[in-house]
Amino acid sequence: MAQYGDYQNLIYGAGLQGVMPRWPVDFAGLEARASAAMAPGVLGYVQGGCGDELTQQRNAEAFGHWGMTPRMMVDCTARDLSITLFGCTLPTPLFMAPIGVTGLCTQDGHGDLAAARAAAATGVPLCVSTLANDPVEDVIAAAGAVPSFFQLYTPKDQELAESLVRRAEAAGAKALVVTLDTWVTGWRPRDLNVANFPQLRGHVLSNYFSDPVFQQRLGKDISQNMAEAVGLWARLFGKVLGWHDLAWLKSITSLPVVLKGICHPEDARHAVDLGADGIYCSNHGGRQANGGIAAIDMLPAVVSAVAGRVPVLFDSGVRSGTDVVKAIALGADAVGIGRPYSYGLAIGGAEGASHVLRCLLAEADLLMAVNGWPTLAAVREAGITRV
Ligand code: FNR
Repeated sequence: MAQYGDYQNLIYGAGLQGVMPRWPVDFAGLEARASAAMAPGVLGYVQGGCGDELTQQRNAEAFGHWGMTPRMMVDCTARDLSITLFGCTLPTPLFMAPIGVTGLCTQDGHGDLAAARAAAATGVPLCVSTLANDPVEDVIAAAGAVPSFFQLYTPKDQELAESLVRRAEAAGAKALVVTLDTWVTGWRPRDLNVANFPQLRGHVLSNYFSDPVFQQRLGKDISQNMAEAVGLWARLFGKVLGWHDLAWLKSITSLPVVLKGICHPEDARHAVDLGADGIYCSNHGGRQANGGIAAIDMLPAVVSAVAGRVPVLFDSGVRSGTDVVKAIALGADAVGIGRPYSYGLAIGGAEGASHVLRCLLAEADLLMAVNGWPTLAAVREAGITRV
């Protein structure tokens, strides 16, 4: 039976034929290659974060103070990384986090479709951002049989919000991920220093421009009135959500509603009490608020507050397969990959993103093999120590 770790055999095997790897397998190498490939404005937007980026750095560094202890004499010749999430059986616990400039990460401007094709190639679901260069219908279709999720930036216009959700559900999304921490953009010096905010230049707004409610609100041909369309988008972006809105969100869809950006255990408990179907522990990769605790260090308290009542998704700072296993050991049910797959898209489109996901899975799988954990349950049982 094929295992994710076999990816290394392909690489070594190609080397024997004199074929060097096309792309690096480690995050530092990947980021360096992507930095050379991406347009400066897009690179700054993807790579940058809030304030002096301390939270962003800490997100990744904090994985270093968690350590795992191996077990020996366990038959790990076959590993099972599969999970069940929102009624879907998935081959691995990975998913691609929603990234609003995915569309711009490939040279052809269709990075969302490329990410969806990477999902189709690897079985790793894509959480499609509201901010995309291709409409959600096309992106979900490009993922084929692999399930997709839809991330909602809730507009101030309730009918527009409902239309976006309806479209995602009709397109076959398996969960609605509502992002809570981004009704206003955090202070991002890299973007501010070059006065660059892609949405205000008309990028990644295709879900709005293709929406009948948005079109009706504008009342004019979008292609002939781009500045006005962008202005309308800016005015409608960013409803400030309160707890009472959860009932409304649940009433407009039959999809599981997942709340993204929950980091405090009290918020996690309250959200589940009010009917949230999933908790997504994330600090948005340190892009929204600086001065925070690393997301991975907030995960255990969130997991404990949720107490198994709904799945806990996690992202922010995951850079390796080892990080993936650590997040599972700390109680995540599914682990979101952010910037690494954007870099994969930048250097190699769908194939590049697939390579990044395969590297993460190979490292995670081989770590489980070596450490005596044939299943994710065994990883959780083994636990993890703060070092
Ligand atoms: C994001 N993120 C994000 N989140 C979201 O809910 N909707 C979105 O459209 C975006 N857009 C976005 C753009 C870019 C360039 C980045 C890097 C991130 C946050 C994303 O889903 C995830 O939380 C972070 O990427 C996790 O941090 P790391 O692992 O990428 O550092």
